Amino acid sequence: MRTIEWDEKKDSLKLIDQTLLPQEYKIVECKTLAELIDAIQRLKVRGAPALGVAGAFGVVLACINEKSKEIVKKKVERLKKARPTAVNLSYGVNRALNAAMLGKSTQEMKTYALDEAKKMADEDVAVNKTIGEYGSDLLEDGDVVLTHCNAGRLACVDWGTALGVIRTAIEKGKRIEVIACETRPLNQGSRITAWELLQDKIPVTLIADSMSAAVMREGKVDKVIVGADRVVKDGVINKIGTYMHAVVAKAHNVPFYVAAPLSSFDLKRSYKEVVIEERSPEELIFFAGKQIAPLMVNVYNPAFDFTPFELIEAVITERGICSKM
Ligand code: MRU
Repeated sequence: MRTIEWDEKKDSLKLIDQTLLPQEYKIVECKTLAELIDAIQRLKVRGAPALGVAGAFGVVLACINEKSKEIVKKKVERLKKARPTAVNLSYGVNRALNAAMLGKSTQEMKTYALDEAKKMADEDVAVNKTIGEYGSDLLEDGDVVLTHCNAGRLACVDWGTALGVIRTAIEKGKRIEVIACETRPLNQGSRITAWELLQDKIPVTLIADSMSAAVMREGKVDKVIVGADRVVKDGVINKIGTYMHAVVAKAHNVPFYVAAPLSSFDLKRSYKEVVIEERSPEELIFFAGKQIAPLMVNVYNPAFDFTPFELIEAVITERGICSKM
């Protein structure tokens, strides 16, 4: 199934629970906006494009049995703020909300929001395929590509952005291998990227984040491709650790690419104007339920970091490749 699907019979949103992968593949159902906000905050659904589409479906949930447009608007404010960094969430909510506001009845508001959310879901897949078409030209037969976090089908509705580029290149007959960085502290790389690539039989080697400098110095990486949570006017905000790989790639002359849809662009802002989500200290103090650090230790746990454009060879979008002149 797609990462996110609307259940017409039950009027609910079905999601693959990404917190349980790779041990368990389970579909969760969100019947209310509160359930969806909780799923977003717990990262059951995650990744910038997926958050955008989930946000749009969240507006549908907010419209169910709700007569007042003002209340719908108020309810979705909480949804927009569920995770602050990926711009796609507010983009998706705003698109579906604008559609809903054209409705003249409760039923029309819901129908218009639902049509828009479904349109966004289909668009996401089409956009990723186009990003894949453009980006795959940058990859050569035999390339080993390092990636961080999960910018694959599970971060989107389907296909993926960074992993979509790799999928398209493979579809075109190129032999590509992937090095997936673990992505501490929540391990989206080891739990989700490695699982997703193995499902598609794409060769993948898992490394700890701290190994990227060594593997690049050993000449084992031809290119780096990551996704983006927000492309701002001075660079790219993405999962914590991305900046470290970009610095290392620059030091070893490895091209560093970002694959992102235009819905992740926010060129009016610089990175300093964006709220970088800080997550709970428990994510570092515990691992899989086991305590791995003193309970009282001071923890700093930003979920994202910023990579300036000077470290980025090109940004691959559905409109083409933006590269340095
Ligand atoms: O905290 P997450 O798992 O939502 O973070 C996701 C990322 O940082 C991805 O790299 C980004 O959203 C791009 S997904 C195509």
